[in-house]
Amino acid sequence: MRRLAIIGNWKMHTTPTSAKALALQLREHLKDVTQADLGICPPALSIPAVAEALRGSNISWGAQNAHWERDGAFTGELSVDALQELGCTYVIVGHSERRHVFGESDDMIAKRLARVAESGLLPILCVGEKEAERQESRTEEVLERQLTKGLAYVEKPPGLIAYEPVWAIGTGKRAEISDVEEAHRFIREKLQARFGSHASEVRILYGGSLKPENIEDLALSQEFDGGLVGGASLSAPSFAELIARAIKRRNH
Ligand code: PGA
Repeated sequence: MRRLAIIGNWKMHTTPTSAKALALQLREHLKDVTQADLGICPPALSIPAVAEALRGSNISWGAQNAHWERDGAFTGELSVDALQELGCTYVIVGHSERRHVFGESDDMIAKRLARVAESGLLPILCVGEKEAERQESRTEEVLERQLTKGLAYVEKPPGLIAYEPVWAIGTGKRAEISDVEEAHRFIREKLQARFGSHASEVRILYGGSLKPENIEDLALSQEFDGGLVGGASLSAPSFAELIARAIKRRNH
């Protein structure tokens, strides 16, 4: 089995002060965890504070987006060089809120991903269907498009892909295990077709209303390599409990 990766996505929650306090709590709660890669992606303005709190710990940090050019006239964007200077490990790319709230296209996402991958940071490419697309049985079509276009400019697969059905994000409705397994298998097949044996190195995470109470059946599945966690990563006890339960089931 691949090593678990459990990454928190804080979205636009926290200020530098509250982010630092939360990161310090997480550091304490998670200090004995050795059997998973742990990460936090705070809002960009809170990255320096989180870096200060987590340096030397078993928790890495990252960003929620990054631009494809090294620098230039790109108001409001995040530079990969700056993220590297701040000690980031991960960069989320193509989160559904970027796609559907801010209108990022598959091509923008592909360019972001290529730049992040080239820099040595680890991109987490997010893919997932909307509720209407699932109802119209178009899940695989959507995943295939997002993967083909999103990976158009890379020669190797990204280290991490997060399957995040849009209807499960922030709704309290986690996808059924059978749907998660089916989607993860489909993603793996597409990666195999494109990248051959390298596909087996990719960790496929699930995201969408993960909580301590609903992680255990997923953690038992061969298809589940970890989670991208929104709401439940904003409380140190709940994130720690989710991680502890995932590891316990994994070792069962
Ligand atoms: P959620 O968010 O866990 O709050 O549903 C997950 C995500 O958007 O990555």
